[in-house]
Amino acid sequence: MLSISFRADRPSDAQSLALPIAKGEAVEGHVPAEIGAVAAAAAANFTGDPGAIVELHASVDNAVRRILLVGIGADRAAAKAGSALVARLLTSGEKRLVVDVTGIESAQRADFAAALAQAAMLRSWRFDIYRTKLPAKQKPTLESVEIVVGDALAATEAAWTPLKAVAEGAAFTRTLVAEPANILYPESFVERCQELAALGVEIEVLDEAAMRELGMGALLGVSQGSEREARLLCMKWDGTGGTAEPVAFVGKGVTFDTGGISLKPGPGMEDMKWDMGGAGAVAGTMKALATRKAKAHIIAVCGLVENMPDGKAQRPGDVVTSGSGQTIEILNTDAEGRLVLCDAIWWVQQKYHPKTIIDLATLTGAMIISLGHEHGGIFSNDDGLADQILAAGRAVDEKLWRMPMGEVYDKLIDSPIADMKNIGPREGGSITAAQFIARFVDEGVKWAHLDIAGMVWAAKPGTMWEKGATGYGVRLLDQWVKDVLEG
Ligand code: BES
Ligand code: MN
Ligand code: ZN
Repeated sequence: MLSISFRADRPSDAQSLALPIAKGEAVEGHVPAEIGAVAAAAAANFTGDPGAIVELHASVDNAVRRILLVGIGADRAAAKAGSALVARLLTSGEKRLVVDVTGIESAQRADFAAALAQAAMLRSWRFDIYRTKLPAKQKPTLESVEIVVGDALAATEAAWTPLKAVAEGAAFTRTLVAEPANILYPESFVERCQELAALGVEIEVLDEAAMRELGMGALLGVSQGSEREARLLCMKWDGTGGTAEPVAFVGKGVTFDTGGISLKPGPGMEDMKWDMGGAGAVAGTMKALATRKAKAHIIAVCGLVENMPDGKAQRPGDVVTSGSGQTIEILNTDAEGRLVLCDAIWWVQQKYHPKTIIDLATLTGAMIISLGHEHGGIFSNDDGLADQILAAGRAVDEKLWRMPMGEVYDKLIDSPIADMKNIGPREGGSITAAQFIARFVDEGVKWAHLDIAGMVWAAKPGTMWEKGATGYGVRLLDQWVKDVLEG
């Protein structure tokens, strides 16, 4: 990954030099005096909009350099600037970039520099491990970004440490999400998470025999058509020295979702390798929290299964008994995420009694129909919790939109033969999925369900990613922990 460092002064040997310019500011005031005129001429059409770049070559500090004027808008858009610079230089042949942010007023400079660095790091993430014949032109060349912060060096280092941890957590999530399902399956997912033990995360794993013992028939029913064994992965981080009650994060970890006997159509089915994006976000968040030693007590649970059609697979019409004892008529084996989540949520409640639960899941295609790829859906039984998570999402630009719940939706999943069925009508499909999960949340527990089906994978570049795995959820949950549990 890109190496990021901070320094007080501009190095004399820098190859390329980037200078942030706010909206409407005169370029001359922000570039070295000797290139004022040439920069102003090059920037004739430059307005300082966030992420806009003007590139010129000029002699600065006695060497010809690539100068990049980068817009930061009216609100010091550090992330947009960091991202745009990396997008421009990543495969340009340039190895080293110096960004001089000493033009930012010193009270804001540390946060600005750290946010710029985080975006640069996230935007540079790629998944090239299976590309043995990548043309040289497409290979990343940029190795390091040095950010010049003047007298704000100590403050910047302090601001950067947690942001770096979060970027590393998001990168961990992205790798899990991007790996194909022949490589990443329940057992290998668990294996990858074992590295968190070195950070002080306690890891507990249930195999199928252990889950059978506990009666977790909903999760196991999804797994029974797969050659891969299911796992329940539990990761615990307590940075409070045992003084705080635990909060639970629960993730849907369907490492591949064929639909099962209710088989999905062929085109696009490969996307279902990222049907473990909720579990991936939860795992990456734990990495971030443990790395930055968050003062919070979190129990993270990932329900890990593969949903396959097979002679042993469950059928439409089957009735299964969940860990909670509630029975479920399986009308569509492709509505499997809720079956995994209901047992994972039941398990964490009976074992750890959290008073707050946040689950993340690529649960429904209907969520993408509702909100597209711009917002995840949030469903909650508690307005306060929902508002906190919505605010965290706005703060880190991982946006959410609140969706309704209620008794009228709940009764749509009543079954004539069991306690409930695993699908409702086509209309409101994301809501009935949330109502299903709600039936497994204990009385008095504050719960939020994040349907992130549209957010885990991106077809086009964003500020924080190139395309592909986004790492959605890590910065969001980290921010919520910071605001609410550590605040
Ligand atoms: N994993 C899918 C939801 C999904 C679809 C996520 C597309 C991301 C992109 C989920 O398991 C599923 O198949 N849901 C069904 C539910 C239906 C059978 C009630 C769906 O959305 O079609
Ligand atoms: Mn499915
Ligand atoms: Zn699924």
